[in-house]
Amino acid sequence: MASKLRRIGKIILGKGRAKRLVTVLPDDIFIVSYPKSGNTWTRFLIGNLFYQGEIIDFTNVEQKVPDIYQNSDGKLLKLKSPRILKSHEYFDPRYKKVIYIVRDPRDVLVSYYEFKRKMGGIGEEVGIDQFTSDFIGGSADPFGTWGENTGSWLGARKDSPDFLLIKYENLLADTHRELSVIAEFIGLSVHDELIEKAVAASSFKTMRQKEMEQGSQWKALAKSKSAVPFVRSGKAGGWKERLSEKELKLIESAWREQMTYLGYSK
Ligand code: A3P
Repeated sequence: MASKLRRIGKIILGKGRAKRLVTVLPDDIFIVSYPKSGNTWTRFLIGNLFYQGEIIDFTNVEQKVPDIYQNSDGKLLKLKSPRILKSHEYFDPRYKKVIYIVRDPRDVLVSYYEFKRKMGGIGEEVGIDQFTSDFIGGSADPFGTWGENTGSWLGARKDSPDFLLIKYENLLADTHRELSVIAEFIGLSVHDELIEKAVAASSFKTMRQKEMEQGSQWKALAKSKSAVPFVRSGKAGGWKERLSEKELKLIESAWREQMTYLGYSK
């Protein structure tokens, strides 16, 4: 029994991907979101600002702003502090400093559906109507539903000075302003010109181009089955062309209160 436990421990702390059991260090900064909410974009923005003189791309993002689902705890522990880590976990009391990215669940649903198809997580035969049930029912992934994930963080931390809520839609509307807020939150004193450079180096066009050139080297896309880009549409409100009245009603009745609170009721 003891040796089995040790083996399990070794897998978790050694080669296995860190995931929810990641070791948390006191000065870690977490970029947390439900999947498909703009986490990668935020990693690029913060990375391009934090690591002055370096450009974040798909070949180095896992070293600079790593994903706890793509890297082992052992590897993450070797990084210099403060670490900036990407996570999709529902509330974890160990995370001290958290930037939480939230996105309209209707756009998250469409983005997730396209992503799952790209990655082979759902078959060609699965329509967006069927995926809507999985999405609302919480079987799309182990991170809770959109409502549970968002609600767990807002409920526990919304008034904490170490919690920053960023809306994907606000990032789209004024990336410069939102990145300045993030910079202040993580204690970076940077002038406008550096923010502007980080915004340009992380723009939709630049990231799409980089994905074309380097996407195959990015661990997160290793199992990609199609050429549909990861940096796909990058818009707010695309759901209007994709979701039927029936699907919209299901989403709204599942998460009406939270959507209203976050300004996603229209
Ligand atoms: P769409 O599929 O709606 O286009 P995540 O990184 O959390 O998985 O989020 C992926 C979503 O962020 C995708 O949404 C993707 O296109 C969008 N995204 C990635 N880079 C972006 C950028 N530079 N600007 C705007 N949106 C971006």
